[in-house]
Amino acid sequence: MKTNLAINGGPKTIDKIFPWPIFDETEVNAVTDVIRSGKWGNPDCADLVKAFEDEFASFCGTKYALTCVNGSVALRLALIACGVRPGDEVIIPPYTFIATSTIVLEANCVPVFVDIDPDTYNLDPDKIEKAITKRTKAIIPVHFAGQACDMDKIMTIAKKHNLKVIEDACHGHGAEYKGKKLGSIGDAGCFSFQSSKNLTSGEGGMVITNDEKLFDMMNSLRNVGRVKGGEWYEHHNLGCNYRLTQLQVALLTTQLKKLKEQTKRRHDNGTYLNSLLEKIDGIKPLARGRGETIHSYHIYIFRYDKSKFSNLPKSEFAKMLAAEGVPSFMGYPQPLYKQPLFQEKNFMCYAIPDEADYTKVKCPVTEKACYEEAVWILQHAMLGPREDMEKFAEAIKKIQKAVKE
Ligand SMILES: Cc1ncc(COP(=O)(O)O)c(C=O)c1O
Repeated sequence: MKTNLAINGGPKTIDKIFPWPIFDETEVNAVTDVIRSGKWGNPDCADLVKAFEDEFASFCGTKYALTCVNGSVALRLALIACGVRPGDEVIIPPYTFIATSTIVLEANCVPVFVDIDPDTYNLDPDKIEKAITKRTKAIIPVHFAGQACDMDKIMTIAKKHNLKVIEDACHGHGAEYKGKKLGSIGDAGCFSFQSSKNLTSGEGGMVITNDEKLFDMMNSLRNVGRVKGGEWYEHHNLGCNYRLTQLQVALLTTQLKKLKEQTKRRHDNGTYLNSLLEKIDGIKPLARGRGETIHSYHIYIFRYDKSKFSNLPKSEFAKMLAAEGVPSFMGYPQPLYKQPLFQEKNFMCYAIPDEADYTKVKCPVTEKACYEEAVWILQHAMLGPREDMEKFAEAIKKIQKAVKE
């Protein structure tokens, strides 16, 4: 290994800071104004919250938007309001964050894992119907990394089998499928505003819908079971306090103004990086052109083939790439069903049927993605100039050359 890799003390290919979150005095002033007003909570005074919800709904092209404490709770509110019953089955992909599965368990429902498409890493629509049983009530397609799922196929299957569709758009702020904002296509769409996300207030969540009944129920569940027109101490549904503060919303309102331009920059950089990486033997960007008119690149994912890198394991390659100054990572170490939670069935008080045995689940595409193939570049690295993308490609070529020497 003659080439001087940064992991061995050589110079980094790209030596710069990729800041996140990006903010200026607008955010500082917006939060300061809320502090000075003394109206920090919701619903003490929900002016900002309501205005932001209206703005987000209009941004997504839906009738309703409802803030809540995080993306997990957004999914939880949507699932429960969709009317699932204990023991119902919910189809999810195994290549996602744990919350997509735990909110199903917390509703006493059974997550059923359906493998991903090897070209997009999104739920493979051609494998969904085989997993549908009499107990299936909903599908949660995850627009992983900000790339749209094949929503036409998913919606057709859902309609045929009378299933609810809850889009996990926690990576997909501002992204589109055939010109429609992610989250606006199914019965409900859920977003996270946690610190790493493309739109953030540190923590936070949002659920959007066009269905008034669903919205009213989610609103009630978010607000300790209160209902429209009811009294303060009148509780109709089993909800909780899942409300967001006005301080968080002040941040989100200012950040939303920046999101559009940032999304375009990530989308353009991602497209450009694809054109550079597809020329490297052993590197394959995920497929584009499956209906995603805007990709939010919450994560830029490429597939790594170790046989073209002298059999260097993916985890080692990812460490070398990070050392070269590319904000990157090997991604999920294993499919969700391999987590101790599922293998050991540590479901505590939740009433999951005994038949649910996750030791027998096998989703080969997800396993390959986790163990061998997927490498992630993080969203804040996609906000720089095109030259950064050239440096990312250069760093990969430097590693390839080094391991072959
Ligand atoms: C795909 C996906 N779904 C759901 C969530 C949950 O969001 P939160 O962390 O805001 O609860 C996340 C968060 O990382 C996520 O990546």
